[in-house]
Amino acid sequence: MKKRIIVGVMMVCMLALAGCGQSGTSADSNTPGNAEEQQTVEVLESAETENTGNSDTTALDAQTPTEDTLVVYFSRTGEQYNVGVIDKGNTAIVADMIAEQTGADKFEILPQEDDYPYTYDELTDVAKKELNENARPAYAGDVPDLSQYSTIFIGAPVWWGDWPMIMYTFFEENAEGLSGKTLIPFSTHAGSGLSGFDRKLSSACPDSTVGTGLAIAGTDAQKHKDSVRQSVNDWLSGLGY
Ligand SMILES: Cc1cc2nc3c(=O)[nH]c(=O)nc-3n(C[C@H](O)[C@H](O)[C@H](O)COP(=O)(O)O)c2cc1C
Repeated sequence: MKKRIIVGVMMVCMLALAGCGQSGTSADSNTPGNAEEQQTVEVLESAETENTGNSDTTALDAQTPTEDTLVVYFSRTGEQYNVGVIDKGNTAIVADMIAEQTGADKFEILPQEDDYPYTYDELTDVAKKELNENARPAYAGDVPDLSQYSTIFIGAPVWWGDWPMIMYTFFEENAEGLSGKTLIPFSTHAGSGLSGFDRKLSSACPDSTVGTGLAIAGTDAQKHKDSVRQSVNDWLSGLGY
């Protein structure tokens, strides 16, 4: 508990220094009266309640692992919070573990114009601007034919208490393909846990079923891979994999 609060406080300081304030999308608006105070509350509450995932979604019935599973994820390399410069993103590490354990296919969401800054502080500024503008940055590549999948894991880093805006581009552009599927969210983060990814995914994809999500601390993904793999496998096991 103490550790989580410390992490939360560290995040708050970091975010406040970066000029942090608000999160809000068409899917879920957290518009604060006092932006910094609101972020403080949100980060601390999230650290308290969401680090281990979420409890407000339906656990999936046990199911046999099949080839009809896809892992979609977004992740950044470069300088990241509390892990220095990384050449494999925190979320990418977790995505790989899920794919290895389930035999799922993978699709990485990459920005079409990859002009996201390399340094952490600059990246937070760009991401904040995208959030404030409710932007829909384009992604590159061709999404696989989603009709062949019944379950889709969807993961991303928490950015300002929300999915990165590029994920909303994916949700909206693939609304038809995601409809009727089971979507299972996962996050990596620096204290905010799942940050309502499940709820926001439900809002963005109302015709899908959202399963129980998983939140992994980004530092653990880089530095404590064995325990993260165990958490991932336990979670998958609970989902019937
Ligand atoms: C733009 C930006 C905003 C972030 N906002 C949050 C946040 O609100 N809460 C949090 O816990 N972590 C936040 N983080 C930390 C990332 O969620 C964390 O480092 C994550 O593991 C990075 O994953 P990646 O390497 O896959 O990109 C933020 C990081 C960035 C770059």
